[in-house]
Amino acid sequence: MAQGPQPGDDYRPGLEGVVAVETAISFLDVEQESIVIRGYDLMELARSRSYPEVAYLILYGRLPGPREREDFDRRLAQHYGVSPAVRRVMEALPPTLHGMDALRTALSAMAADDAALADLSPEANLERAVALLGAIPTVVANSFRLKAGLGWREPDPALGYVANFLQLIRGRAADSLEIRAFDQLLTAYSEHEMPNSTFAARVIASTLSDMYGALVGAVASLKGPLHGGANEAVMRMLLEVGQPERMEPYLMERLARRERIMGFGHRVYMHRPDPRALLMKELLRELVAAKGQAELYTLCDIGEAVMRREKGLYPNLDYYAAPVYYLLDIPIELYTPIFFAARTAGLAAHVIEQQAHNRLFRPRVRYLGPRGLHA
Ligand SMILES: CC(C)(COP(=O)(O)OP(=O)(O)OC[C@H]1O[C@@H](n2cnc3c(N)ncnc32)[C@H](O)[C@@H]1OP(=O)(O)O)[C@@H](O)C(=O)NCCC(=O)NCCS
Repeated sequence: MAQGPQPGDDYRPGLEGVVAVETAISFLDVEQESIVIRGYDLMELARSRSYPEVAYLILYGRLPGPREREDFDRRLAQHYGVSPAVRRVMEALPPTLHGMDALRTALSAMAADDAALADLSPEANLERAVALLGAIPTVVANSFRLKAGLGWREPDPALGYVANFLQLIRGRAADSLEIRAFDQLLTAYSEHEMPNSTFAARVIASTLSDMYGALVGAVASLKGPLHGGANEAVMRMLLEVGQPERMEPYLMERLARRERIMGFGHRVYMHRPDPRALLMKELLRELVAAKGQAELYTLCDIGEAVMRREKGLYPNLDYYAAPVYYLLDIPIELYTPIFFAARTAGLAAHVIEQQAHNRLFRPRVRYLGPRGLHA
């Protein structure tokens, strides 16, 4: 029989629908189909502002003016590189390790370079957030490069954040459509209220542990296929299907086996469209036209229609982000690490907010196990 806090105690598996924190950072306004970021609509931001401007907004609570923007870009670029110690740690990792595991390890190693690690003041944490935001693209891109035997690549501080990130990954300059597409993709991933990884980061931050620890926990959370890992699984599925006419039978077969289809469903948007997926779909339409890959769009569109008809489920961001990544020639294994790089802004803002109004997370249980046993 259950013990501890009892029925009527409002136990909700997975904390579904539970309000766990107060925040001024973001809010999923499901009714209005809007993702509110510090008062702005995320889709409007993605179309009118660059990723670094949105990251600034998330961290500082307001959009930067032209001088602040310039200063922010300069500070980011100053931090593009990583220390020789972090590079050595990454080079020592076996090539079998997934990019998210390499990222988790590198983030831990980065804490050792932070002389002010114990300083949890908002000022120190904001500085730290900017430094992490600047350096994580180098970590992410090189985790793949090392694994693929491509050798370490240094960032180019003369390039803006988005162009540098793409160049680090692909080793070649990007055109303006590619930069805009990658910028919007990063913005779409930048912040999303209280997903599992953000909650994990806030739970860790609530013990007054440091930002690296909170972000390391968030990487571990984001790696899971029910969360960030879905984007990689979506692309593998789209490649396995290959032709648009195969999509419907493929999905029907998997649904008949009661399998979960990655890229569909969302704890908050289960039976409603995820606005970010619509943004990525628009972008995909532009990219397939520019790259002569119309079949990929058709295939995704058929998948969307089948899932809506069969399960009443809508695509989430990962469903349409995956083919966008693909058309940007980004290796599949980097999809989730890039999601994390983009989310660094949101995660850092949540860590700072948690510690500014802290209450230790410490819930209770409904105990179902035995009692009265003796050793
Ligand atoms: C995101 C996710 C974990 C949210 O799940 P949840 O809130 O825990 O919802 P549940 O697992 O309780 O699912 C509710 C119902 O929808 C079905 N469902 C949810 N997502 C589904 C999917 N992707 N494919 C097939 N069926 C799905 C479940 O099987 C369940 O049906 P049932 O009641 O007949 O058993 C879930 O939708 C999922 O696994 N999606 C695929 C992974 C993914 O894309 N993750 C990225 C999220 S942004």
